[in-house]
Amino acid sequence: MNTIGQDFLELTKYPHLTESHKEQGVPCPPLEVPEPNAQLISLPAPESLNFSAVSVQAAINNRRSRRKFSSAPLGLAELTWLLWATQGVQEQLPHATLRTVPSAGARHPFETYLAVANVTGLKPGLYRYLALSHQLALLRANENIGRELAAACLNQKWIANAAASFIWVAVPYRTTWRYSERGWRYIFLDAGHICQNLYIACEAIGAGCCAVDAFDDDALNALLAVDGKEQIALYAAPVGYKI
Ligand SMILES: Cc1cc2nc3c(=O)[nH]c(=O)nc-3n(C[C@H](O)[C@H](O)[C@H](O)COP(=O)(O)O)c2cc1C
Repeated sequence: MNTIGQDFLELTKYPHLTESHKEQGVPCPPLEVPEPNAQLISLPAPESLNFSAVSVQAAINNRRSRRKFSSAPLGLAELTWLLWATQGVQEQLPHATLRTVPSAGARHPFETYLAVANVTGLKPGLYRYLALSHQLALLRANENIGRELAAACLNQKWIANAAASFIWVAVPYRTTWRYSERGWRYIFLDAGHICQNLYIACEAIGAGCCAVDAFDDDALNALLAVDGKEQIALYAAPVGYKI
């Protein structure tokens, strides 16, 4: 019988935990992976975003996983809203951030990568949201990024039709620094909150998304140029307007 899940739960129970680096006095790791050489793109201020009102009740009632998208480009304001709703930093503390989603110990161990195919004002390519400064970093222009992402996601061809795809990369040490082995549980739980906010935020602007976890891990990490150990692609969600 496959016991990997039970082993994980057993070994992350409190009696098994080793002393965390925080408890040992090791300094807090950076709150964001730096991006020193990328071209930076300013985004509209979160407080300037103003969409026609959709009630929370309607957004939750209408939420669905959507895999068919219109060919209309996603606006930069709309993309900004989705970034804000999923990882926006509301308050920066000395060693933590408070954001639009919860995170165990406010560690926020994720970096948001974006495969941009059809967003007004952005050339197609791979980007990263710099949440602390509320900017986009262009990592590399790539006309084929949607198709390459679809290929990495076990050839789920519908992904290539998304206007933009969110890919969440975990930096586990940001959480395990404080919580040791138990931090691994929290990382996966944190990811769920982020993606759920994306679903609801999409509904608020007439867009849709679909959570994706069926992917070739090594291929997706390679596409994002992350090492799969200190930075791990864990979850994705293509986005586009509903048809
Ligand atoms: C963790 C997770 C992984 C998923 N991975 C995929 C995926 O790789 N491809 C896909 O088409 N849908 C994926 N889905 C979407 C589910 O299939 C979808 O949520 C389910 O069919 C229920 O539909 P609903 O979200 O519209 O209620 C995933 C959903 C979750 C929560």
